[in-house]
Amino acid sequence: GAVHTGLAHDSAANHVTGRASYTDDIPEPVGTLHAYLGVSNIAHGRILSMDLAAVRAAPGVVAVLTADDIPGENDVSPTGKRDDPVFPADLIEYHGQPLFAVVAESRDFARRAAAKAEVEVAPLAHALDPEAAIAAGYPHVTAPLTLARGEVETGRDGAPHRIAGKVRIGGQDHMYLEGQISFAVPGEDETVTVHCSTQHPSEAQHMVAHVLGVPSNAVNVQVRRMGGGFGGKESQMNLFAAVAALAAKKLDRPVKIRPDRDQDMTATGKRHDFVVDYDVAFDEAGVIAAVEGSFAARCGFSADLSGPVTDRALFHADNAYFYPHVRLQSRPMKTNTVSNTAFRGFGGPQGVVAAERMIEEIAYALGRDPLDIRKANFYREGRDLTPYHQQVTDNVILRLVEELEERSEYRARRKQIEAFNRDSPVIRRGIALTPVKFGISFTATHFNQAGALIHVYNDGSIHLNHGGTEMGQGLNTKVAQVVADAFQVDIDTIRITATTTEKVPNTSATAASSGSDLNGMAALDAAEQIKARLVAFACESRGVAADAVRFLPNAVAVGEEVIPFAEFVKSAYMARVQLSAAGFYKTPDIHWDRSSGTGRPFYYYAYGAACSEVEIDTLTGEYRVLRADLLHDVGRSLNPDIDRGQVEGAFIQGMGWLTTEELWWDEKGRLRTHAPSTYKIPLASDAPRVFNVDLVSWNANAERTIKRSKAVGEPPFMLGISVLEALSMAVASVDDYRTCPRLDTPATPERVLMAVDRLQRGA
Ligand code: MTE
Ligand code: MOS
Repeated sequence: GAVHTGLAHDSAANHVTGRASYTDDIPEPVGTLHAYLGVSNIAHGRILSMDLAAVRAAPGVVAVLTADDIPGENDVSPTGKRDDPVFPADLIEYHGQPLFAVVAESRDFARRAAAKAEVEVAPLAHALDPEAAIAAGYPHVTAPLTLARGEVETGRDGAPHRIAGKVRIGGQDHMYLEGQISFAVPGEDETVTVHCSTQHPSEAQHMVAHVLGVPSNAVNVQVRRMGGGFGGKESQMNLFAAVAALAAKKLDRPVKIRPDRDQDMTATGKRHDFVVDYDVAFDEAGVIAAVEGSFAARCGFSADLSGPVTDRALFHADNAYFYPHVRLQSRPMKTNTVSNTAFRGFGGPQGVVAAERMIEEIAYALGRDPLDIRKANFYREGRDLTPYHQQVTDNVILRLVEELEERSEYRARRKQIEAFNRDSPVIRRGIALTPVKFGISFTATHFNQAGALIHVYNDGSIHLNHGGTEMGQGLNTKVAQVVADAFQVDIDTIRITATTTEKVPNTSATAASSGSDLNGMAALDAAEQIKARLVAFACESRGVAADAVRFLPNAVAVGEEVIPFAEFVKSAYMARVQLSAAGFYKTPDIHWDRSSGTGRPFYYYAYGAACSEVEIDTLTGEYRVLRADLLHDVGRSLNPDIDRGQVEGAFIQGMGWLTTEELWWDEKGRLRTHAPSTYKIPLASDAPRVFNVDLVSWNANAERTIKRSKAVGEPPFMLGISVLEALSMAVASVDDYRTCPRLDTPATPERVLMAVDRLQRGA
């Protein structure tokens, strides 16, 4: 069968030869126009007037669209909060906010014209970060969450040690290779087709319908693949899809919108920055007695997905550790910045960073190896209840960490590094082994459903469609493997097709790492339906029992007779057997009550661990990663090659988030790191010099997931935290590991240098 084998990504050759078709590669019909966004140059203020005469008069301009041109609702909020205008009618809420769109004969005409607007505003005071927002009495963009168990005060009273601190965790730009893009082609009557780079075609469809004031059945959204999404196309495409469709219907011409990288970076949401205040009590052995935490997030001007993102930060503020008494609170703060959104891990990574900071605090306070403190606090039998009252039943963290500890020779290397540091005045090294436990499922239970559509044509070829989207993660390959396995045909018998709202309706975002879990199951359901009809046909036509029909490689055995698959299918067609089926799946056994903070929000957990070694220059703060060893649990992998790629890529992306990727707004609220010139993602040369990536070989999923695999997209992102912790150890060496360096993130060379300086001065 095709599952559990390392097949290359179905588009691998097309990706590297430039033949893979993206939204911008779709041939443009004659008469296609191009749109560009005109934006605000103030962070907060009332619009007094907008003079767009010069924009209209600019060369090539066909139309200018503002809030007044919207026939339906002026809103693209993914949660129905009505706080995300396409174009604000009155209030500007962040620097670079889109105010209008120019539609012109070329993209260059539109872009040049957009800069010619004269907007008169009455400025208002602004707050850019969560601390300023709290100080200014800004509201939450969405209801905060509290998770609590036990009695924090009581738990604290009995503990000999207590440390309170603060960690500031930076945001992250998605930096997908393909930026946001939408291309709308008007159809007859109310209809429109929108080609959109999106992880969530159904939502783009519903948003376009709202904005145009037409029913969802008038809108078709389609995407063959994205050049990366990483969460940035779960809701952020809505604006672009809406603007393209609006212009296309208004002008009755095809309209494409593709922002520059600068505008993509300034006008679309990012990972949330957090400021976490923690208070942890523990005993002499480093065992945690009580944890209290407040998680304030930079949400931006609107709710977008900040509710579920800040919830997930709390769900992961325990990482793999048992907190006997715990109280965690989220503070989703409104700020005058772009509205932040989903990004790989969806708030979880920020929660895990806070958990690991508390571990470090304990380790430095007691003069112990942080790994021992980690192990002392792992979930285990009798100590297995999360702060949201879900029991951790499939726990493999200790076994996994001990396996990596051996493979990476952590103990011996830590000793060598301590010895190295004693003799090395300038260059210092650090090592850290950190675990991750990540909950799999959408916490909004109703999103955990999926559909698929399979046609078997009468020549035996198979057309596969499902509600998931391909963004490079290999989802289509995995689902095709499942279907090929079901029919026992070669993988190239299966045609992978574009995701479209016309084939599978009401889909969820391809997000929360659940793409293959959900769509794999839905596709299997469709395949099983067709197979059942084929078996019934064989029984009837040849007079055999059902167990005499077997699917063999590219053939079907009926009793003693072996018939090639295509021939068998043809005979079924001739006998008028229905060869098409729609499949469906919903995740069983999950429930979540947000008001009481209790339930089983996650179907299962994925686990992993990483051991990273770094070297810093204490005179400049510069560093590099010498070696990283990763061990990650993907259950019984559907495709070990693709999964290994996901683990590797996620680690590097997580490392970039915590080290060099810095978002920086000036006092006017202007994002100054809005291009690769100032925003530094990891390069090939930043990869660990030695990089060992392994999948756990012994852990089939305890739950009945597709072929007992586990989701892989997001969990390994948090393996990058080992790099941060290793940097921390290298810094701590300058005062002989007496002080927890309390590195904020990103731990840029500047921050590392400042921390070295702080510890050397004993401050
Ligand atoms: N891998 C690639 N190459 N490109 C991406 O955009 N997105 C990540 C992850 N891996 C992403 C990726 C995110 S944020 C998620 S939620 C999952 O893939 C989504 O896909 P899946 O559910 O099929 O794993
Ligand atoms: Mo991923 S952040 O759930 O798109």
